[in-house]
Amino acid sequence: MKEQLEAIQAEALERISQTENIKELQDIKVTFLGKKGSLTGVLRGMGKLSKEERPVVGEIANKVREAITAAFEEKNEKLEIALLEEQLESEAIDVTLPGRPVKVGGPHLLTSIVEEIEDLFIGMGYEVREGPEVETDFYNFEALNLPKDHPARDMQDTFYITNELLLRTHTSPVQARTMREYKGEKPVKMICPGKVYRRDTDDATHSHQFTQIEGLYVDKHVRMSDLKGTLDIFAKKMFGEEREIRLRPSFFPFTEPSVEMDISCKVCHGTGCNVCKGTGWIEILGGGMVHPKVLEMGGYDPEVYSGFAFGMGPERIAMLKYGVNDIRQFYTNDIRFLKQYHKA
Ligand code: DAH
Repeated sequence: MKEQLEAIQAEALERISQTENIKELQDIKVTFLGKKGSLTGVLRGMGKLSKEERPVVGEIANKVREAITAAFEEKNEKLEIALLEEQLESEAIDVTLPGRPVKVGGPHLLTSIVEEIEDLFIGMGYEVREGPEVETDFYNFEALNLPKDHPARDMQDTFYITNELLLRTHTSPVQARTMREYKGEKPVKMICPGKVYRRDTDDATHSHQFTQIEGLYVDKHVRMSDLKGTLDIFAKKMFGEEREIRLRPSFFPFTEPSVEMDISCKVCHGTGCNVCKGTGWIEILGGGMVHPKVLEMGGYDPEVYSGFAFGMGPERIAMLKYGVNDIRQFYTNDIRFLKQYHKA
C-alpha cells in the first residue's frame, strides 16, 4: 500500500508540474484528491489493514495528500498570476492616446428663437400660454370676428377635420381662449407660441405646418403707442439696437386699426438694396388694436377695455436673423444645418 501511495504522489506531482493550464490543473486535483480520486480509493482500502499498519499508512497517506495539495496550490498561484498578467497586457489602455470627443447636441434653431422671444416678453411682464392645435371653427375664426362665409377666411387655407373642427391656422384662437378664461375680470398680457397649419404647397417660403407666436395685451387705456413701443423694443432686442421699425396700415379682421410692422434693412439701413428689394424695409409681423367685437366676444367691455395684439412667425424671424433662405431647413433635421446654430 505504501508503494501504491508513493506512486500516486509521484504521478500527481509529475502531472502537476507538466501542466500549464489552470483548468487542467483543477482536473488533476480532482483525479487524485476528489471523492472518486485515486488517493481516496486507496484510503478506502485501509479498513482491511491491521491495527499496527493503519497509523503508519495513515501517516503516509496524509503526507501524500499534503504534498499533492501543496504542489497544486503552488502551481495554481503561478498559473493565476500568469493569467492575470496576460489579461493586464491584452486589456491595457494606452492613456496617452488622444480621447474621442463627446458629441454634444443642442436645441433646434427654431426652439432657440422661440425661447429667446419668450424670454424677451416674459421680461416685459407677459405670461406664456398654450392652446390646442386641433381647434374649433369658433375659436379659430368666429371669436376673432371671422364669421362663416367671411371673405377674409380665404386668407388662411384651412385643413378641416369636420365642419366645426380644424387644424388651427394661426395662434390667434389662444387670444380668444385666454380672454374667455379671464372672464373680462382682469387684464391679459400673454404670448402664445405654437404650431399652426395651412393648406399650402411647400416651397422655400411656405410650409403646411409652421410656427407662430401670438401676443395679446388687454387692459384699461392700452393705446396704439403701447403697441409701437413694445414692438420697437422687440425689434431692437432681436435684430440690433440700430434697427428702426415702421408700422404700415393693413387689414386683419380681428384688429382695428391693423398694421404690418417692418424693420429697417440691416444691410442698407433704409436706403434700399437687393436684400430689402430696394425698399429699405423688411416685413416682420402683423398686429393692431384688438377689434371691439373680439373684445366683446372675449367677455371684455370695449368701452372700458382696449388692447393690442400681434402675430409673428419665428421661422421668418430666424431666417432674417441668420440668413436662412429655405423654410424647409427647419423641418428636415439636417444636422449639418442645425449644428451651425448650436451655441458652444
Ligand atoms: N393671425 C394672423 C396670421 O396668422 C397674424 C396676426 C395678425 C395676429 C394681427 C394678430 C394680429 O394677433 O393682431 O396671419
